[in-house]
Amino acid sequence: MMNQAVKTQTTESFDAIKEAHNLSGDSGKIGEYYDKWSGAYDRDVSNEAYAGPEYIVNYFASLKSDKGTVDSGDRDLEILDAGCGTGLVGIFLKQKGYRNVDGFDLSDKMVEKAQATDAYRTLNGGIDMTQKNEVYKDNQYDAILCCGVFTLGHVPPDSLSELIRIAKPGGLIVVSTRKSYYDSTDFQAVCDRFVAEGKVKRVSNQMDGPYIAEEGAHYWAFAVC
Ligand SMILES: C[S@@+](CC[C@H](N)C(=O)[O-])C[C@H]1O[C@@H](n2cnc3c(N)ncnc32)[C@H](O)[C@@H]1O
Repeated sequence: MMNQAVKTQTTESFDAIKEAHNLSGDSGKIGEYYDKWSGAYDRDVSNEAYAGPEYIVNYFASLKSDKGTVDSGDRDLEILDAGCGTGLVGIFLKQKGYRNVDGFDLSDKMVEKAQATDAYRTLNGGIDMTQKNEVYKDNQYDAILCCGVFTLGHVPPDSLSELIRIAKPGGLIVVSTRKSYYDSTDFQAVCDRFVAEGKVKRVSNQMDGPYIAEEGAHYWAFAVC
């Protein structure tokens, strides 16, 4: 009986994550889905051994500072957590001592959860990173982290351009891409184009890092030109 109960809960968690992958990048549907899922999100991703937030924060903090690029060792950096969800990335940033962390998400209810973590200076719900928004100014942040958002059924690779707009020249953009997302989209071609256009420089990447039980993710760090 015991094993069966555990299995059922895990299956539910796996299914909730899979359902999120079927939202076809439709911002309206994504917002509604995450509003409803917000209460169970942390439990479900924990059941599926979600390691992305801790890994991306450690990866960001480990980046070597380079001439003309911000130093990720500076705990006073102005950091934006794009698609912050319930605040898992913010929690790890706070543990590392980063003091000036803001966040946004499409879902107001996810943002309410993030608020409760006490890891963020400011938070905004209803922000769609597939479009230019009026809330975040050009060249505003020293660093932008985006975990679990470049994933199936969520945002297209081109949404990187909105993060590039908001980051300062010399600022760092660090994102995860679930492996199956990377394999099924033009993410690599979009990055190559932004590099060729002189919008960003490649800093480093980690292929097949830990992400979630089902599969790993690639992690990417860019510096804005
Ligand atoms: C898998 S969750 C990841 C949340 C958090 N970053 C984490 O790692 O736990 C994906 C998040 O991206 C948000 N999201 C999806 N599409 C978005 C968009 N177009 N603009 C802003 N947020 C979006 C969802 O609302 C959701 O909170």
